[in-house]
Amino acid sequence: MHSFSIHTPTRIFFGTDQLESFSQAVAKLGRHAFVVVGGGSCERLGYLGEVTSAFEHAGLRVSVFRGIEPNPEAATINRATAALRTLGADIVVPLGGGSTMDAAKAIAALAPSLMERDIWPFVRGESREGQLTSALPLAAIPTTAATASEVTPYAVISNRTVKGKSVLAHEFLKPAVALLNPAYTTQLPPTATRDGASDILSHVFENYLLGGGDSPLADRHAEGVMATVIHSLPHVLAKPDDLAHRGQLLWASTLALNEYPNAGRQPSQFVLHSMEHALSGWYPDLAHGRGLATLYPAYFRWLLARNRCRERFAQLGERLFGITGADAPERFIATFEEWLDANGLRQSLGNLGIDEGDYAPIAAYAVKVYGDGHQLDALGPLPAAEIVSIFKATAQQAHALRH
Ligand code: NZQ
Ligand code: ZN
Repeated sequence: MHSFSIHTPTRIFFGTDQLESFSQAVAKLGRHAFVVVGGGSCERLGYLGEVTSAFEHAGLRVSVFRGIEPNPEAATINRATAALRTLGADIVVPLGGGSTMDAAKAIAALAPSLMERDIWPFVRGESREGQLTSALPLAAIPTTAATASEVTPYAVISNRTVKGKSVLAHEFLKPAVALLNPAYTTQLPPTATRDGASDILSHVFENYLLGGGDSPLADRHAEGVMATVIHSLPHVLAKPDDLAHRGQLLWASTLALNEYPNAGRQPSQFVLHSMEHALSGWYPDLAHGRGLATLYPAYFRWLLARNRCRERFAQLGERLFGITGADAPERFIATFEEWLDANGLRQSLGNLGIDEGDYAPIAAYAVKVYGDGHQLDALGPLPAAEIVSIFKATAQQAHALRH
């Protein structure tokens, strides 16, 4: 096994009956909660009212910031931070998907640096990367099963002016507490449900493939997450209020990126994420999970064509789908592509409206911000020109979008 150091400080309250206990834990973090929500779903569905009442009952003052967009924008984060400072709130509580949680984390980190008005210079690849020093306490309530932002040190931020999408990464961005209520995910539209499932899979695929097999326990953990997603997604698509399977997906999303699934393997770059963040930075209407799903088959085939991680694909084929034999890696990819197809997740970049003329600048952004300026590292070089070839190869997955 490889050495590692991990820290997972978030107290998790899981269940449909945990709001009161969660609210009491939040009340220990401060006195005035700044609740951050997205474009209206949480208010419309009654979650916002439920949370604010429970907070007030626990003795908290509550202010609400509305309007975080999917692929959250730096300018919105800046505006929200100014509002928080004016109000003097001392806890930040995102109620929403990864976009809302990430925006809230960025607000919590910018707020204490009173002279600063703009979050963008502090993200990866920009002039002041890594210079923020603290954050207000965070209490997160995810309403998608997708990102695990409720436990991660990351906040992924977009900047439409420069067509960029980059990351704040600090230990102090890990929320202190999180409420995982599967009932808050039952009204998720099918598209967001599918996209979220794709994101969960990616979080365990990345290092499973590139990190080698030195921790069989890490493999079993990751395979458990993948098998759960593969099994549960069709159930919730058929029956959206299936609380048991919604719960499995929500918990799988947390366990996919809470630092445990990759512990003991050789660390590796998150290559799929580097390519996808560049794509959805350029095209902010593209959902992160959808972009990942589009890249999976082309990226997997690109790796196999270079004889990279062949044995890892073979193991996945056997463990997830019972595939054996010399061509197990190829058959795993084909079988997984069929699963993507059956679950409305198979398409090309062209299907998503991404212009081939943009492939080269998007690839250049990926290697600039997430690589060394020339290439990513996928068990060997993945240069910008090869990223373009992966983007082009998605055309072979072309499919009439059904969803
Ligand atoms: O804005 P509202 O009205 O809330 O609607 C949202 C949004 O339109 C809707 N939604 C969320 N919960 C709902 C719901 N609709 C009905 N019922 C509910 N319960 O879903 C849409 C998508 O929401 P969004 O937050 O954008 O989705 P997701 O959770 O997939 O988050 C994606 C963002 O997280 C980043 C991605 O890059 C992207 O910006 N990531 C964050 C990570 C992290 N912090 O560690 C890691 C990930 O790899 C990822 O990069
Ligand atoms: Zn992701």
